[in-house]
Amino acid sequence: MLECVLVMDFGGQYCHLIARRIRELGVYSEIISPTAKLGDYGDKYEIKGFILSGGPQSVYEKDSQKLTDGFMKHIKDKNIPVLGICYGHQAIAFYEGGEVGSIGMKEYGITDMVVDKPVSILKGLSRKEKVWMSHSDTVTGMPSGYEILAHTRNSPVVAFRHRGKQVYGVQFHPEVAHTVKGVRVFRNFLFDVCECKGNWEMADFIKESIEKINASIGEKKAIIALSGGVDSSTAAVLAHKAIGKKLTSVFIDTGLMRKNEPESIKKTFTQDFHFNFRFVDARDRFFKALEGVVDPEEKRKVIGETFIRVFEEVAEGVGADYLIQGTIYPDRIESGTDDAATIKSHHNVGGLPEVLGLEIIEPLKDLYKDEVRVVARKLGLPEEIAERHPFPGPGLAIRIIGEVTPESVAIVKEADAIVKEEIKKAGLDESLWQFFAVLLSIKSVGVQGDVRTYQNSVALRIVESVDGMTANFAEIPYSVLEKISTRITNKIPEVNRVVYDLTHKPPGTIEWE
Ligand code: XMP
Repeated sequence: MLECVLVMDFGGQYCHLIARRIRELGVYSEIISPTAKLGDYGDKYEIKGFILSGGPQSVYEKDSQKLTDGFMKHIKDKNIPVLGICYGHQAIAFYEGGEVGSIGMKEYGITDMVVDKPVSILKGLSRKEKVWMSHSDTVTGMPSGYEILAHTRNSPVVAFRHRGKQVYGVQFHPEVAHTVKGVRVFRNFLFDVCECKGNWEMADFIKESIEKINASIGEKKAIIALSGGVDSSTAAVLAHKAIGKKLTSVFIDTGLMRKNEPESIKKTFTQDFHFNFRFVDARDRFFKALEGVVDPEEKRKVIGETFIRVFEEVAEGVGADYLIQGTIYPDRIESGTDDAATIKSHHNVGGLPEVLGLEIIEPLKDLYKDEVRVVARKLGLPEEIAERHPFPGPGLAIRIIGEVTPESVAIVKEADAIVKEEIKKAGLDESLWQFFAVLLSIKSVGVQGDVRTYQNSVALRIVESVDGMTANFAEIPYSVLEKISTRITNKIPEVNRVVYDLTHKPPGTIEWE
């Protein structure tokens, strides 16, 4: 059975990083809710340990999620190691009869920790270590049977362990890169305490996912909406490996994709992967629905709804029971915010499950984007898909200020292709988050071939970002900008002016609409 360390999510902002660090060390990890039924996981995995994440609550809040007798009995009876981090550390202390109190201030950022006992989870650490803290409550009184392993100036108990059982806690965040020996702490926990073998790799994830999908779907049928992005493509290939032709992949050509993209996606999935592939040419339908629509939110709504209608029609004919979705971990956390909810509702075709009444399978739900890219490459997806930069669900429509018509799409599509080519040629693509053209709704006077023109303007949007939540406009060499500008104005007669967008996010968003 696959070895697994489960991370119990108490709502901490770094929870996802914990699971990721564990996987990076070669141990499979999944994030579970504090109310999850442990029996379900015990049937699937050999549970080697638990990590309790940080969280925004205080153990004294009435509604805070506390450790349950059931959980503590489960781990103690079976002697499964458990490590509490931040809130998790306080929750253990509180449950075990210790004291948790406020230190009257926030201990936040890089902090000096004094290691009193460099043993077990702190083995190999020096007397003084830099750790990352983010808390205001702390353990002020030790529960009986426990001993202190480390402290800081403000917190008397920054690490502890039970003297006889495999229960540990740290107030700091070993998962954050600023904790210099954080990885060492995880290594100690995983390999010394939990005795994991550490031989898990992405190939195992692929094997496991295929088995899981197969077990869930059996002889039934599934459907997926392929967008051509790395997430949905990877989810589709996994599902296809599991159930073959029982999976129908639907690609809807909205007319709003980038140059040659629909053709290339069709080729990949029909010729290279031999999918049961439905290519739906819905361009006219989308353009018709978008007639006269200029408001950005209205555009998104119209596109989202049209997408769902078209997909629904295809799905009806297929008679599927399951819907495969390419949701990844950041999508799940982001959907908590209003802004992200709007963004993702189209990206993951969020309206589909309710409309279709299908059961959802999300094989990538615990992975990060770069982990998905590793899986994509292992599955043999072309580099063009594996390395694909983010592209919004509504496509080029939100890069056209004003009405979306076949003509305006043709202009922005051509300009976008030039930007892409030149940025790639200059070797800048890998360091950039996104680079594209936006067709503006203003015309200006120019002179082209000795003739006065009154034509459109295009803005270049080229940004660096880590996660799309904030972004900086990129300092692109003028020579590259010049090439892009010259090629756009030479090649596209409807454009006589190119401008560079010098706005960070915030205050601007990455997309113009
Ligand atoms: P903004 O424009 O909000 O974009 O700064 C942040 C990131 O999200 C992408 N984006 C979208 N993705 N559906 C998507 O799937 C959308 O409606 C959407 N709007 C923006 C954008 O390309 C950037 O990477």
